[in-house]
Amino acid sequence: MLPIELLFYEANSKQKTILLNIPNDHKVLFETIGQVADSMNQQVYVVGGYVRDFYLGRLDEKDITDIDFVTVGSGIELAAAISRKLGTSKISVFKKFGTAQVKYRSLDLEFVGARKESYRRESRKPIVEDGSLKDDQLRRDLTINALSWSLNPDTFGVLNDPFNGIQDLKKKIIRTPIDPETTFDDDPLRMMRAVRFAAQLKFKIEDETFKAIQKMADRLSIISKERIIEELNKIILTETPSYGFELLLKTNLLEQFFPEMVKLQGVDIRNGQGHKDNFWHTLEVLDNVSEVSDDLWLRWAAIMHDIAKPPTKRFSKSAGWTFHGHDALGAKWTPKIFRRLSLPLDDRMKYVQKLVRLHLRPIALVSDEVSDSAIRRLIFEAGDDIEDLMKLCRADITSKNEWKVKKYRNNFDQVEERIKAVEEKDHVRNWTNPISGDKIMEVLNVKPGPVIGNVKNEIKEAIFDGDIPNEYDAALDYLMQIKEKYKNG
Ligand code: CTP
Repeated sequence: MLPIELLFYEANSKQKTILLNIPNDHKVLFETIGQVADSMNQQVYVVGGYVRDFYLGRLDEKDITDIDFVTVGSGIELAAAISRKLGTSKISVFKKFGTAQVKYRSLDLEFVGARKESYRRESRKPIVEDGSLKDDQLRRDLTINALSWSLNPDTFGVLNDPFNGIQDLKKKIIRTPIDPETTFDDDPLRMMRAVRFAAQLKFKIEDETFKAIQKMADRLSIISKERIIEELNKIILTETPSYGFELLLKTNLLEQFFPEMVKLQGVDIRNGQGHKDNFWHTLEVLDNVSEVSDDLWLRWAAIMHDIAKPPTKRFSKSAGWTFHGHDALGAKWTPKIFRRLSLPLDDRMKYVQKLVRLHLRPIALVSDEVSDSAIRRLIFEAGDDIEDLMKLCRADITSKNEWKVKKYRNNFDQVEERIKAVEEKDHVRNWTNPISGDKIMEVLNVKPGPVIGNVKNEIKEAIFDGDIPNEYDAALDYLMQIKEKYKNG
C-alpha cells in the first residue's frame, strides 16, 4: 500500500489510482463488472467502505468480505448479468429494496440501483425512486462513505467526491453529506455509526453533526437493540474504547440504551471527602484491559465491573465512601442488562457475570496471612477464567499516584505467584469431587436425596480447607469417618 499522503495526492489529482494500488484480483473483478455494465449501457461505481478504506490505507489490514456497488439503472438486472459472467449462481435478490447480492469466492458483492430514498417513519419501509449517482451519494450516511469510483471502461478509476469526503478524511472529520437532521431522520442508526467511525478512525465529529445527534438521540428508540449493539460492540473493540464512550455520553446516545452506565457519572463530597467518578474510572479500566486483550467479553466485564456502585454507595465518618456488595449486585444485574441489550445469555454472559462477581476477591488475597484455602476457593470459583480475572484486577488499578500503582501491581504479582503454586500442588482449577454421588449412596446405603449434596459439600470443604488431600483414597477415608452423621438422611 502507498503512503497515505501519496494516496491523497492521487485522489486530488483525479488520477486513476484504482489501476495502481488495489489487490490484483479486485482490479480484475472491477474491470469485469465495468465491462458487463457497459454492455448494458449502465454506469456502475464501487462505493462506500471499500473506497474509504483505500484512501485510509486500510484495505490491507481489513479482511474484506463485502463490496458495495451502485449503478444508474437496475441493480438487480446488473447483478444477474454479473453472476452469469462470473459463473456463480449464488445470487440473492431483495426486490422491495431494489438490491441484489452476488456471492463470489469469499466476497459478497452488493448491487443497488441509484435511488432517491426516504423512509416513512411509521413503517420503516423505504420508498424507493430511481435517481442519479449524486442522488444516491447524498442519501448516504457520511461524506467519507459517499466516495465512489467509476468502473466503466472509459472512466475506470475516476473518483466521484461530491461532498469533499477526501478532505474530511484528511482533516479526520465525521460529517453528513447533507443537513444532518435529514440524514439521521432517514435512519437514526446512523448516529451510532457516526460515533463508531469516529472511534474506529480516531476522527472528530463535526459540530453541526454532533449537535444534531444530541438533539435527535432519542430517535434511537425506533432502532432494534441488535443493530445498536452491533455498533456498540464495534466501538468496544476499538483501540481506545474510552473515546467512543465519551462520544456516546456527550451525544446523549448512551442514556438511550445503557442508563446504568450513565449513572456511574458524578462525584459526591461529604466532610471534604470525595470518591472517584466511576464513569471515567470504568473507562480507564476498559482502556487498560484493551491494552492487553482484544476479547470482547473481557472488555464487557470491564464495562460492567462497577455497574452497581450507585445503589450501594454509602458514607460513614469512620469508613468514608463505601460500595459494599456492588460486586454481587452487579453480577445479579448482568443477565438483566444483557437481556435488555440483546446480548447473548449463554456462556459469554456467565463469563462476564463471574468476573463481575469475583473482581474484588484477588484484592482480599493480598495479605501474607491469607491461607491456601482462600486461594484454592478462588481458583475453584474462577476456574479457567482465573487469568482473565487477574487481568481485570490489574486493569482496575487506576490511581494517579505512581507509588500506589506500583505497590498494588506488586501485590497482584504475589497473589498470582501463590495462585500458581497452589494450583500446581492441588489442581483445583477444574475441580470435581473425587467421590461420586453413587459411591456416597453405596456407603451410606441411602436413596438419592439432598443428603448426597450435603455429604459432597462436606468433602469439598475438607479438601479446600486443606484438612485432607485432593485424592480419592483420602476422601473415601473421610467419608467413612463422617458417615454416621448422615446415616439417617
Ligand atoms: N450506509 C448508509 N447508512 C447506513 C448504513 C450504510 O448510508 N445506515 C451506506 C454507506 O455509504 C456505507 C455503505 O452503505 O458506506 C455500506 O454500509 P456498510 O457495509 O454497513 O459499512 P461500510 O461503510 O462498508 O463499513 P464497514 O464495513 O467498515 O462497517
